[in-house]
Amino acid sequence: MKTVQDYIRTIPDFPHEGIMFRDVTTLFADARGFRMAIDQMLHPYAGLQIDKVVGLEARGFILGGAIAHQLSKGFVPIRKKGKLPGATIAQAYTLEYGEAVVEIHDDAIQAGETILVVDDLLATGGTAQAGIKLIERLGGKIASCSFIIDLPDLGGRARLEGMGMDVQALCA
Ligand code: PRP
Ligand code: ADE
Repeated sequence: MKTVQDYIRTIPDFPHEGIMFRDVTTLFADARGFRMAIDQMLHPYAGLQIDKVVGLEARGFILGGAIAHQLSKGFVPIRKKGKLPGATIAQAYTLEYGEAVVEIHDDAIQAGETILVVDDLLATGGTAQAGIKLIERLGGKIASCSFIIDLPDLGGRARLEGMGMDVQALCA
């Protein structure tokens, strides 16, 4: 039987030379693959209290939306700068291939809410760390950070665990 990893393809030199880009669109496009990924991402959280799911742009929206629906919880997007229409707070960060700023609506999370952070891939951890900072600035408590892929050589897991985060991933 195919595993989640079997549905993911690697595109060399995207978006820049030297980057081996893990493309999860082939996983999302397959009904069995997508369901398997969502089910496996949910597995560690059975019985855990989660108030909201936060997805990181862009593929974290696809995964986070499905997970929030399955948990019957609300979904909150963290978006790249300038995309959210309401009042926001912002956080700058460094990527494997560049720099960026992410934002969250300043009323999207209430102090004390328990949050599950979702994205497709953990590389340097810069994106997730920026998201975590935004959530914590609003008073949210992070229950866990869930990814399909962890690229451990890039240090993201160590970075997030160093912040005291629980990190879950389906494959490397
Ligand atoms: C990718 C991926 C994560 C991030 C991981 O998104 O989906 O969000 O990089 O990298 P990091 O751990 O080094 O921060 P990307 O920045 O390509 O943005 P996109 O999803 O909007 O295309
Ligand atoms: N984000 C950062 N590094 C990545 C990679 N190798 N593949 C897909 N998304 C990424």
